[in-house]
Amino acid sequence: MGLLDGKVAIITGAGNGIGRAHALLFAKEGASVVVNDVGGARDGSAAGDTSAADAVVRELTQAGGKAVASHDSVATAEGADALIKKAVDTFGRVDILVNNAGILRDKSFTKMDEAMWDSVIAVHLKGTFLVSQAFVKQAIAQNSAGDPNERKGARIVNTTSVSGMMGNFGQANYAAAKAGIYGLTRTMSIELQKHRITVNALAPIAKTRMTEDLPMFHGVDTMTPEHISPAALFLASDLCGDRTGHVLAVAGARLYAFKIIETPGKFKDEASGVWTAQEIADNWDAIVKS
Ligand code: NAI
Repeated sequence: MGLLDGKVAIITGAGNGIGRAHALLFAKEGASVVVNDVGGARDGSAAGDTSAADAVVRELTQAGGKAVASHDSVATAEGADALIKKAVDTFGRVDILVNNAGILRDKSFTKMDEAMWDSVIAVHLKGTFLVSQAFVKQAIAQNSAGDPNERKGARIVNTTSVSGMMGNFGQANYAAAKAGIYGLTRTMSIELQKHRITVNALAPIAKTRMTEDLPMFHGVDTMTPEHISPAALFLASDLCGDRTGHVLAVAGARLYAFKIIETPGKFKDEASGVWTAQEIADNWDAIVKS
């Protein structure tokens, strides 16, 4: 018995790195997998190369799994719709979506041009929105039929990043996209609860073609995509239960979570309740203390 027996899982950006590891594990756990990848280089150039997704599908089917390739870009509405249609045409339904596709165009803030900003936001943030919306429409339509007590839910796993949660030098576009995915995850988790759709996010750190030239990964082989995928499996399986709106972070053997903290703050005791700028300066420590 696999944890995902009978489920149909769509994994975007599954031709390489972390997405590929998710696809291998999900198929091993019994899911029928749609391996989506537009191909191309780390910065999104030369997209349209179908070999990455096709190679992973070959790997999965040779191991006895069920898989189909999608070469659609997540960054356009047409691509997102075609991806969901591919899942339904091939496997008849959708149950799990992992939004994992990504590109990198790093530059320090003052040197970052509009094209670098637009392309990174388009793949990560807009791509997560577009594919999720097409997925949710299909999940609601297919699951609203039949006995309400037997209605199935669905599960979405988004991919954010430490950079989005904490900020990182040279990644204004990427950090903004990943922080946006955090806000999107929170809002989707609230709105989709009534449809029994859980929406959580992963914040991975792993050595892939995206990160292998970072000094922290030189000579390090203990932070692999295979360390990340069990966390995606947990969030995509019924082991996750009703948990929704969480960010699970994985870095090698370390598993932790990101949370937003709201401090208790301080009330102004005068009737007007209006703080002056000077009073904010004078009370700073009390206001921000957690
Ligand atoms: P990767 O470069 O190995 O894989 C990303 C895949 O997404 C590639 O195969 C690429 O072709 C595909 N892709 C790019 N644009 C696409 C589009 N428009 N439509 C469909 N597919 C597209 O990178 P990696 O490291 O596996 O990253 C996976 C996810 O994890 C990304 O969202 C990344 O931002 C995130 N992440 C990775 C970290 C790491 O340490 N490797 C750290 C934090 C986040």
